[in-house]
Amino acid sequence: MEMRVVDVGADLAGATLVIGVLEGMEPAPGSEEAFARVSEDVISVSRFEAKPAETLLVPYPGASAALLVGLGGEVSFEEIRAASGTAVRQARTARLVTLLAGIGVEQATRAVVEGSVIGGFQFREYKTTGDKLKVETVEVAGGLADELREAVIVSNLTNRARSWVNTPAKDMSPETMANQIDELAQGAGVDSEVWDRPKIEQEQLGALLGVAAGSDRDPRMVILKYRPESPVGHLGLVGKGIMFDTGGLSIKSAGFMEDMKGDMAGAATVAAATVAIAGLGLPVEVTCVIPLTDNAIGSDATRPGDVLRPIEGPTIEVLNTDAEGRLILADGLGLIRRYGPDRIVDVATLTGAARTALGDKITALFSSDRGLADEILAAASRAGEHFWEMPLFSEYRKSIDSTVADIKNVSGSRYGGAIVAALFLAEYVGETPWAHLDIAGPALSRESSGEMTKGASGVGVRTIVELARATGPSH
Ligand code: BES
Ligand code: MN
Ligand code: ZN
Repeated sequence: MEMRVVDVGADLAGATLVIGVLEGMEPAPGSEEAFARVSEDVISVSRFEAKPAETLLVPYPGASAALLVGLGGEVSFEEIRAASGTAVRQARTARLVTLLAGIGVEQATRAVVEGSVIGGFQFREYKTTGDKLKVETVEVAGGLADELREAVIVSNLTNRARSWVNTPAKDMSPETMANQIDELAQGAGVDSEVWDRPKIEQEQLGALLGVAAGSDRDPRMVILKYRPESPVGHLGLVGKGIMFDTGGLSIKSAGFMEDMKGDMAGAATVAAATVAIAGLGLPVEVTCVIPLTDNAIGSDATRPGDVLRPIEGPTIEVLNTDAEGRLILADGLGLIRRYGPDRIVDVATLTGAARTALGDKITALFSSDRGLADEILAAASRAGEHFWEMPLFSEYRKSIDSTVADIKNVSGSRYGGAIVAALFLAEYVGETPWAHLDIAGPALSRESSGEMTKGASGVGVRTIVELARATGPSH
């Protein structure tokens, strides 16, 4: 999607003009003149009520058409973004001129860009039928050029993360994803290193190797470093990269396996966020550690009862091979500490329990640090993503004491699974303020609506960028 700022009086020939309408059939602020040119008769014979996500295509002088989009009762950042997503999916011309950025809401330009670019995302790599989106160019009347440029960077990278997640696991091996991250990072001025199996063995990432043991495809460890001049802080990011989660020998049943090509969504999110932060030139150092492997069932697969030795921290008795994310994250967290970040955030499709607790649209946040948790909640709110904090009470910690090793990877109870997983991770973060984002629910969107389309969501990219943006010299 090509995005550009134009004057409010831009030429409309051949284009669709997007006009926001409030419930009660009031034009959105800034659209009064344009709305006055739309025939009242056309609206009155329609069923259009200007409810959110409602649209009506009408004739418009000098343009191919006008698309009226409902904004509901109140114009907010979220409504503008949602309406912009709806507009790009509904319009029938290649060029779209939108008035939604002139509405007088803060960051309206960003809302229009996110709605258009993220809401206009199509993953057609494997499609030979079906309609391609008509809209190719969105002209943002009266938009802010800098705000547009930045939002385009972040939105495109959100879509990059979504493409990785949508790609079938057959075509997305640890090697393939590592190479693609490497290439993307290098192009953005981010220093990148990819460790192959011998190097991973040499560095003794025993937990990652334990999960990888069941697959013929070798694991990778990707390390990204963004090093701006005179940084004001150092953010450490770790992402869960399970290319496909069969469950291992503790195998999943068919229904639970269906979405498991998406079990590398955390890896996709942190890689895209790191490159976005670099693209914006934010003055924050970022180190990003991304363990990538399958969780498969080959003859040498880790067995329940086997013990793994991560790079640092407690040895692990693996009692359930389907709790593999926390294993590779143990190595990821142990490794990132060596780079000395002042805060660590990990992102992972870690537990079905987080999805059970908060559903498909809300990220579960856990943190060892009040200040960091509050900053992430504020960042998510600015990003327009839904995050909710969950407790890290140490009450459940003893449930993962092991008889044979230092800890075990599951508690044996079905309850409180997202918390137990977070307490497990806490064993590997040391003293550094740390937060864990369990995105098992929201990594995939079940529907196309607003700025989201069905499939991978790219959740977390925008929030992490906002977190970095808000990082000041106090860190
Ligand atoms: N990748 C899954 C978690 C998941 C579930 C992600 C649903 C997305 C949607 C994770 O590796 C897993 O299998 N977790 C187990 C842990 C259990 C064995 C303690 C789970 O949640 O069932
Ligand atoms: Mn699993
Ligand atoms: Zn998993």
